[in-house]
Amino acid sequence: MADKLVIGNWKMHGRHAFNAQLVKQLLSSEQVDRAGVALAVPAPYLVSVGELLKGSRLSLAAQDVSQFADDGAYTGETSAQMLADVGCAYVLVGHSERRQYLKEEGDQLRRKLLNVIAAGLTPVYCVGETLEEREAGRHFAVIREQLSALDGVDSGAVVVAYEPVWAIGTGKVASLEQIEEVHHEIKAECLRRLKGSATIRVLYGGSVKAENAAAILSIDNVDGALVGGASLVPESFSMICQTATKLI
Ligand code: 13P
Repeated sequence: MADKLVIGNWKMHGRHAFNAQLVKQLLSSEQVDRAGVALAVPAPYLVSVGELLKGSRLSLAAQDVSQFADDGAYTGETSAQMLADVGCAYVLVGHSERRQYLKEEGDQLRRKLLNVIAAGLTPVYCVGETLEEREAGRHFAVIREQLSALDGVDSGAVVVAYEPVWAIGTGKVASLEQIEEVHHEIKAECLRRLKGSATIRVLYGGSVKAENAAAILSIDNVDGALVGGASLVPESFSMICQTATKLI
């Protein structure tokens, strides 16, 4: 079984003291301090958390990136090249919270994806349907449309994360059957749209906790997890990483 990738998405949480304590506790576990674990931290803390991770095998990830490729008069923006410069390995693109609150979509997300890849980093492209879309039976169509941003991209260059919006921060997890069938569909769609083989990795996100990690990560087409709330609790995130390590 290939490596399972576990990414903790801190969202808009953290302060210097909290971050230092959390990272220290995480690094005290050998099963967390391994390749295939990354922390997506808020932009102001990328450099300091990067320092804390020095000498460990954990990777640094950003939660967003500018749609503009090159340096210029874009106040407030952070380019993919800057993220590379401060040591990021992964960048979340198109998280549902940004789609929902900042209306990110379509061409804008494709530009972000291409900028991240051009900077030599790996985008983690987030897709997923709302409750309304699922109840209307439109989830596959919605996800296929979201995946169109990946047209022609090299499959080795990108990770996809399936996060059903209704399962994020709600404690509601998609059933194992729902996860399995959507991941299968995502891989099939990626085969159609992306260059290269079927090497695409698809993570699941949405209320992943220590208690359900083993069942979710054991599903065939689940190549890892994107963890929100539980990534802020050292014991929980460590447990999830340990579970992922045992499944390698
Ligand atoms: P929760 O794990 O808090 O549901 O968040 C999932 C998520 O959005 C990760 O990106």
